[in-house]
Amino acid sequence: MAVTATQTLDVERIRADFPYLEQLQDGKQVAFLDSAASTQKPRQVLDAMTRFYETSYANVHRGVYRLAERATEELESAREKVRALLNAPSAREVIFVRNATEAINIVAYSWGLNELGPGDLVLVTELEHHSNFVPWQYVATRTGASFRMLPLDESGELRLDLLDEVAGGEAVRIVAAGLTSNSLGTNNPVERLAAWARDRGAIMVGDAAQAAPHRPLDVQTLGCDFLAVSGHKMCGPSGAGALWGRAELLERMEPFLLGGHMIRAVGEEKTTWGALPHKFEAGTAPLAEAVGFGAAIDYLNGVGFDAIEQHEHQLVEHALETLAELPWVTSYGPPAERRAGIISFNVDDIHPHDIAQILDMDAVAIRAGHHCCQPLMRKLGVVATNRASFYLYTTIEEIDRLVAGLKRARQVFA
Ligand code: ALA
Repeated sequence: MAVTATQTLDVERIRADFPYLEQLQDGKQVAFLDSAASTQKPRQVLDAMTRFYETSYANVHRGVYRLAERATEELESAREKVRALLNAPSAREVIFVRNATEAINIVAYSWGLNELGPGDLVLVTELEHHSNFVPWQYVATRTGASFRMLPLDESGELRLDLLDEVAGGEAVRIVAAGLTSNSLGTNNPVERLAAWARDRGAIMVGDAAQAAPHRPLDVQTLGCDFLAVSGHKMCGPSGAGALWGRAELLERMEPFLLGGHMIRAVGEEKTTWGALPHKFEAGTAPLAEAVGFGAAIDYLNGVGFDAIEQHEHQLVEHALETLAELPWVTSYGPPAERRAGIISFNVDDIHPHDIAQILDMDAVAIRAGHHCCQPLMRKLGVVATNRASFYLYTTIEEIDRLVAGLKRARQVFA
């Protein structure tokens, strides 16, 4: 089809910031369409981490010498950037973790294991990534609480109309849902879900791993009590993410990891916990990674989240329209208006792993598999899908390379 979409970002200028594009695979730039798994990194992030190691590196919150003080300032400045990204009321509520999975596990272990019991209900959705499903299933099993899924409709959207029915008469204590689906790209109406949870006296845990990279977020209007974010999905390094939680809940929770830095006083009989956020940051934090995460936030703010969202919308619209012209492609999920830049699809009955391998011959990188969403795959009636996911550096031309590669793959398997 003709390319009519106008690009709102200066994509070529953005692409000049990303060193991965300087190498060729079989003479071609890699069309990297796997940003939902992890994003590529701009030079600004890599440089910030190198500068930190070269000029300001020491352990934090321990030394009284100037180098250690600079390192501490850098870490706390990164924390402030995460706070501002989420519009959290206080940086005390921002805990550095390795990734969104770890953030959710902290809530599951520290809140769930201590607060849940028989007669309580834990509610997740059929759309969840395993990282916002398995920890809740586990703590429900350990505590005797009930565990249930809110079902999806045929296009993979949450059946909010069934909330009361699914909850039945049980005491809903926790509702866990992703803001954006990593498989289908669906932007879920989490504000409505959070309001329902609040009315029931439950707490709401939002998985923002796939939302924070793509659009502005505000924890003060979202209605969640906890929010999990992964830095590596938003141009930051692997090993840095954040858990935001309401201070009054974090204050009441037991720590998850025990050891250095998270204590107030240690005695033979008893140990008391340090103040937030340190109570949840035992051991040496991923320091350079946090600094890189902060630099990634600066970089994305410089581009503008509204512009990123609009750019992805154009890409996903183009991709959905183009794939819809291929009768042998089945796409899953909602229309472009309710999606981030993520599309799952299947090609005839060709296994997604075969498709992904053929595409790799054309230097087109997509993910194939169940995307850590086996309940969703069962709902769709498939074992796996192909998934193409876009970000600020993705171009319309790369999506057209994907489509050309799919045609080639189909011929190969004909
Ligand atoms: N959660 C990542 C994905 O969806 C790894 O691919």
